[in-house]
Order: sequence, then C-alpha cells, then structure tokens
Amino acid sequence: MTGAAKKHRMKIAAFIFDLDGVLTDTAEYHFLAWKRLAEEEKLPFSREDNEKLRGVSRRASLDLILQGREMSEKKIREMMDRKNGYYRAYLEKITEKDLLPGSIDLLRELQTKGFKLALASASKNAPRVIERLGIASFFDVIADGNSVEKTKPAPDLFLFTAEKMGVPPAYCLVVEDAEAGIAAAQAAGMYTIGIGPTDRVGSADYIYPSVSEIKLEDIL
Ligand code: BG6
Ligand code: MG
Repeated sequence: MTGAAKKHRMKIAAFIFDLDGVLTDTAEYHFLAWKRLAEEEKLPFSREDNEKLRGVSRRASLDLILQGREMSEKKIREMMDRKNGYYRAYLEKITEKDLLPGSIDLLRELQTKGFKLALASASKNAPRVIERLGIASFFDVIADGNSVEKTKPAPDLFLFTAEKMGVPPAYCLVVEDAEAGIAAAQAAGMYTIGIGPTDRVGSADYIYPSVSEIKLEDIL
C-alpha cells in the first residue's frame, strides 16, 4: 500500500501524545542532570550525545553514556538515582508556562472533536511533570515509564495505552519527537506524527517542526 493510500484509509479514534519534547521541553533538564553526573564521573558527554537519549529510558541512556565502560550493577543504580535527583530538582521549576506553544489549543480541539486522548511517556517522572503542567484532566489514559518493562523503541507502552483506552492500535495516531518513539508506534501498528527534523522523525506519516504547526486538516 502506498503512503498516500494508507493515509487515505486512515481512520483515527484516539491521539496518543508523548510528553518530553512534544508537550514540554524537558530535554534541557535531562541534559543538565546527565551533564552534572558525567562531570562528577569524568565521562565525556556533549549536547550532541544528549540528542541520542531522546525518548530512551534512564537505564538505556546511562548505557549510551558509559559507551561500554564496565561498572557494577550497584554503581549503575547509584548513578541513575543521582541523575534522577538532579533532574527532579529541575522539575520543581516547571509551571503551566512550560507547555510548548499550541499544545493546549490542540488538546482542547481534539477533545471537542470527540477523540480519545492519552499520554504515553517513557519517563518514570511523567506523573510529576504532568502535575506541574496541570494537564492531567485532558487524558483518558496516562501511561509512563512504570507502566511496562520494555520501553520505546519496543511497542509495549503504546499497546498498553491503546488497550487501556479500548481503541485498536490501527485507530491510534501517536505524536512523538523521538526516533525511538516513532519506531515504537510503528511497531505497535499505529499512525505517527513526528515533531522535529526529518533526520530524527523522517519515517513518520506526517512531520511538523513543532506541535503549533500541526494541521489537523491535513490529517483528518
Ligand atoms: C523520555 C525522555 O521521555 O524519558 C528521555 O525523552 C528520558 O530523555 C526518559 O531518559 C526516561 O526518563 P526518566 O524520567 O524515567 O529518567
Ligand atoms: Mg519525547
């Protein structure tokens, strides 16, 4: 089936939103927290390295930073906890003003149009971020890094979310900013909107530079 034919037959009942990088930009806080840990541990870590961690779980992120350096399990746990402590402190600065432009308008419009809405984030801190942003009431289902064992790029989190909503995966459209997130949604058999540059989200069904530029009339 061609991309155009696939889109033509697209029938959407639910939108599933990623959180970090789609509704708010926590990537900077993740970067600052990992950077502090990396400096303490004398590990190289740049902004470019941080881009590879988008959408990737805490453990997988640390594995990428360690680049094969051997560490005991105890040390790995301690480093993850330390980074998370730094990150949690940054989260206390988040307010409703940290919602990315257009996100509330889009959620309102989709809600008014009768779509089911869910949030599916790889982050175990998603409940705190959602609370700080004040957006919990928009969502029928909220799934996070605690909901499944295997996070993105595995399809598990999106499949879990769809099942909780009672919507078949083929009727779900996922909004994601990470390559791992687009891969996960596609593995789940869902349609995708990629937010960001094509070298990151180029395989998505629709691509927009930011949430504020999503045009529902292109899609629905
Ligand atoms: C994702 C972020 O949403 O959550 C990743 O894009 C992050 O950068 C991942 O590593 C896990 O987050 P947390 O809060 O569980 O460490
Ligand atoms: Mg993201």
